[in-house]
Amino acid sequence: MSLTQLNKTFRKAEKDLKKAITEDELLSKLFKEVKKEYSKPSVGKLGFHNLDHVLRTASRALRLCKKKDDKRVIIAACLLHDIALTESPYEEHEKKSALKAVKMLKRIGFSKEETERIRSCILATDHLHAKPEAREQAIVKDADLMEVADGSFLVKSMQLAKEFDYPADVIAFNTVKLFEKLLPEPFFTKKARKIALKHFKNNYKEMKKAVDFYKVEKVRL
Ligand SMILES: [Fe+2]
Ligand SMILES: [Fe+2]
Repeated sequence: MSLTQLNKTFRKAEKDLKKAITEDELLSKLFKEVKKEYSKPSVGKLGFHNLDHVLRTASRALRLCKKKDDKRVIIAACLLHDIALTESPYEEHEKKSALKAVKMLKRIGFSKEETERIRSCILATDHLHAKPEAREQAIVKDADLMEVADGSFLVKSMQLAKEFDYPADVIAFNTVKLFEKLLPEPFFTKKARKIALKHFKNNYKEMKKAVDFYKVEKVRL
């Protein structure tokens, strides 16, 4: 895909997301609260898991949706799937985000049933431990993982290194380990496989090369 085509796709996805949020009263209220959470001073440290990541995840999820999918539930889950990272470390952030999300959703006025489904979608983004049990969970999970399955992963791996305060070789090593656990089938929707599987495999190969490079180039005294 050329850069112009890619730009067009991004702009359209951004527009679709904006429309979906502004046309839904509860989603508009939720988005306001999420934005407030991500503007806390502590969030400055999040070089990768910031509001941009959340919005990219939500617009990718919309791309994966079919007409019958419940976009309100899916967008809300994307907006909230990493919300705990605004106040606590990475470990088990899916569970912590789900807990915080439930409180926010209740306060805003989401129904009990929607809140439970959004909570399940958030828990499904634990890529190492959770398998999706419903299509909406698969959509949110795939949209989140697609973040590391496009041509911009090199830049994102630098953002991750900054966020975790890890050297680049550690990020490359951890990425290879994660990708190996998720391959050969990292995605659960047909569309995500079509759009992102090739890039996922390619990024895995690139990161593997980086790990080998660090091994060879390391100066041992
Ligand atoms: Fe996450
Ligand atoms: Fe995420």
